[in-house]
Amino acid sequence: MIAAVNDAAAMTGTGDRMNAQAQQIASAMHPFALPPLPYPDNSLEPVISARTLKLHHGVHHQGYVDKVNELVAGTSFAQQSLRQILLATAAQPEHTALFENAAQAWNHAFYWHSLRPRGGGLPAPALEAQIAASFGGVGALKEALAGAAKSLFGSGWVWLVSDGARLRVVSTHNADNPLVDQYTPLLVIDVWEHAYYLDVQNRRPEYVQGILENFINWEFAAANARGVHADELA
Ligand code: FE2
Repeated sequence: MIAAVNDAAAMTGTGDRMNAQAQQIASAMHPFALPPLPYPDNSLEPVISARTLKLHHGVHHQGYVDKVNELVAGTSFAQQSLRQILLATAAQPEHTALFENAAQAWNHAFYWHSLRPRGGGLPAPALEAQIAASFGGVGALKEALAGAAKSLFGSGWVWLVSDGARLRVVSTHNADNPLVDQYTPLLVIDVWEHAYYLDVQNRRPEYVQGILENFINWEFAAANARGVHADELA
């Protein structure tokens, strides 16, 4: 793959450096690789065990990445980012499998960064002010996230998003992603059973509460609120 990139750059010469650079960036993304966990797999214990994190990242997330690579091979999607793929394939019945796997690959990369060991506390003042304006305070936001997680039927995700004017808590089913609805995701909690079943069986609220009390990565949320592209952090 790298050799092919160099060949492409050489062929374009100096006349079209921008194009060569774009090709290099696009080609370097493929095949997609599983992004490493941003922390050791035992660092969210006891809320999320190393066993859960190892399986969740190494088997489930890896599986979505592998499937995307299989589905994009030889197609026009092969030079697109995960974000581009999920936006292009949403609500396209002929691309359901690609959408689901690309969205799950993106969602999981976003989820790992939404958590951090020794997280929690309070967000920086700018984000805290946004939260206060939209929810009344950080405590009320946490209640909204916990409530959305508890009431989501089946598998899905609970998100803190921005609609440009205010922050919202939204939930999505299965692989669905709020980018499709023009929202900017700031944080997400995975509420598929594979995220918590080994640790707390069906007690989803216990897992969510553990995250809300200990592992929320406010810096990541604040960066996303400022418009930092999450794909570059994943
Ligand atoms: Fe998951």
